[in-house]
Amino acid sequence: MLPFESYTPTRLIMAPQAELQAADQIKKHGGSRVLLHYGSGSAVRSGLIDRIRQSLENENLFFIELGGVVPNPRAELVYRGIELCRQEQIDFVLAAGGGSVLDSAKAIAIGSCYEGDFWDMYGRGATPTGRLGLGTIITLPATGSEASNSSVIKNDQLDIKRGLRSDLNRPDFSLINPELTYTLSPWQIACGSSDIISHILERYFSPTTGVGLTDRLCEAAVKTVIDETPSALNNPSQYDVQANLFWSSTVAHIGWLGMGRQEDWSVHALEHELSGHYDTAHGAGLAALYPAWLSFILEREVNGGKKSAKDSAIIARISQFAERVLGIQLDFADSLSTARQGIRSLSAIYRSWGLPANLSDMGIPYEELPKLAKLAKKRPDGFAGAFSPLNEADFLQIYQIAWNWQY
Ligand code: NZQ
Ligand code: ZN
Repeated sequence: MLPFESYTPTRLIMAPQAELQAADQIKKHGGSRVLLHYGSGSAVRSGLIDRIRQSLENENLFFIELGGVVPNPRAELVYRGIELCRQEQIDFVLAAGGGSVLDSAKAIAIGSCYEGDFWDMYGRGATPTGRLGLGTIITLPATGSEASNSSVIKNDQLDIKRGLRSDLNRPDFSLINPELTYTLSPWQIACGSSDIISHILERYFSPTTGVGLTDRLCEAAVKTVIDETPSALNNPSQYDVQANLFWSSTVAHIGWLGMGRQEDWSVHALEHELSGHYDTAHGAGLAALYPAWLSFILEREVNGGKKSAKDSAIIARISQFAERVLGIQLDFADSLSTARQGIRSLSAIYRSWGLPANLSDMGIPYEELPKLAKLAKKRPDGFAGAFSPLNEADFLQIYQIAWNWQY
C-alpha cells in the first residue's frame, strides 16, 4: 500500500425531501446571496426548482437563477455564470441537477474567485485560488460529482473537453434525495451505472499490491451496482434501489476506493474525446470502451509471452475481477481463459442494460479515430494510465477494437 492522505469535507445528507434543507445548509455555510444553477428542464418539470425557490424564500435568502446547463456542460454558460456572480456579489452557488449541472456550478464557483480566464485551470494547468460557497442537490446517480474533487467542462470554441481536479471542487454540502431519480429514463440510469462502475474500475485495475481492503471495497461497490441496476431499469421508483445506486456513485468517486493505490484513468481519457467531440453520453462511451481496453491490455500480455496469473499481474487482476465480481468460476489451470470470460461478461452486462456494444453503433466515424487518439489526454511523457501504460498508438488500437467490438 502506498502512503495516502484523504480529505472529504462534503457534508452528505441522504433523505427523502433532502432538498428542503438547502436554505438551512447555505446559511450554516455562511451563504447569503445565492446563484441557483440548473439544467435544461427536468428539474423544473419535476417541481424540484419550485421547491428550492420556496425554501430559499422562506429563509429570506437573496437568490438569482441561471438554468440551461446541457449534458457535457459548456464553457460559455460558465463564463455567463461567473459574470452574474460578480455583478450580483453572489457568495454561494447552489446546483440542482445531474453531474453536468454540478460540474458547471463548480466551474462558476471557482472561476468567480480566479482573476484570469477560468479555462486556464481546465485546459492549461493553472491552479485555482479559491471558490464561492458550493452546495448541490444531485438528481442522477452517476458521476459522484456530489463529493468528488473533479469537474469536467466542454469548450466549444477550442473543441475540447477537459477536467479540473482540485479539493476546491468538493462541495460544502450535498443533499441526496433518491426520490428525485424516479423521473430518470432507462437510458440515463444505464449510463449512470456504467459511469459508477468505471470510476471504481479505474481504481481497481492498479499496479499497486498489498491493498486488500480497497480491493474488497471496490468489489462490493461494483457488485452493488450490477445487482441494483436491472431493478432500477425495471422500475425507477424504488427508494432503496436508488439510494444504493446513489451511495455507490458517491463512494465510487469520493476518493476512498483509490486510497493507497495508483489509479489508472485511461478509459476516461479515451471517453472524454468522444463526448467532447460528438456530444455522446459519458456512460455510454465508457461502456463501449471498457471491454476493449481490458481486452487490449490482456492480449498485449499474451503477445508478450505471458500466459497466466502466475507470470502477469494484469492477467491475475482481470481474472480476480472475473471471479470475485462477475461470479465466473476461476480456472486454476487457465486463468487467462477466466480473464477473457470476465471481459465478455462485463460487455454482456452493459448490453443487457441497453448500452451500445461498440463505437460504430454510437455513430463515431472510424476515420476520425487517429485524431481522437492523438488528442486524448496523456502525461508529458506521452503515456497515460498506470496499470498498463498506453501511448498514442495504443489509444488508437483500443479505439479500433472498441469500434468493432462484438459482445
Ligand atoms: O438537463 P436536464 O433537463 O436536467 O436533463 C438531464 C440530462 O439530459 C437528465 N436528468 C438529470 N437528472 C434527471 C434527468 N432527467 C430526468 N430525471 C432526473 N432526475 O439527464 C441527462 C444527463 O444529465 P448529465 O448531468 O449530463 O449526466 P451525468 O450526471 O451523467 O453527468 C455527465 C457529465 O459529468 C462528467 C461527464 O464527463 C459529463 O460531462 N463527469 C463528471 C465527473 C465529476 N465531476 O467528478 C466525473 C465523471 O467521470 C464525468 O467525467
Ligand atoms: Zn466518469
